[in-house]
Amino acid sequence: MASTRAKPTLPLLLALVTVVIPGPGDAQVSIHPREAFLPQGGSVQVNCSSSCKEDLSLGLETQWLKDELESGPNWKLFELSEIGEDSSPLCFENCGTVQSSASATITVYCEWQGQGLGAGRLAGHMTALKSPTVT
Ligand SMILES: *[C@@H]1O[C@H](CO)[C@@H](O)[C@H](O)[C@H]1NC(C)=O
Repeated sequence: MASTRAKPTLPLLLALVTVVIPGPGDAQVSIHPREAFLPQGGSVQVNCSSSCKEDLSLGLETQWLKDELESGPNWKLFELSEIGEDSSPLCFENCGTVQSSASATITVYCEWQGQGLGAGRLAGHMTALKSPTVT
């Protein structure tokens, strides 16, 4: 409750937090977003983060192309691309000797034929499909 904003004791607080951090057994990895909905072949950025403060290694398990974009002391941002079907990428961590993992759910939808037609055109496309005229 007590606000510590702008207090000069911040470095001290940080030091305390470091000391008070529970053992690795309490560390949890989390994944963001937990759900993604994207066109087939699309890409998504996934942030794996952890409460682990010691000897952390973080990774992301996926069958898709994976790039590590950025990372911080306890998180890593990945981009998955060319996602072909529904899948569940998994963030995992080793925190000391303890492992944990968290998964997300990716749902892909089919983009209609025709390059250059963005998803925004879907509605128009569907209308076109209903018309009896076929060329
Ligand atoms: C990833 O998540 C962590 C923890 O929530 C956050 O501190 C960090 O800024 C995030 N990174 C990006 C690039 O969003």
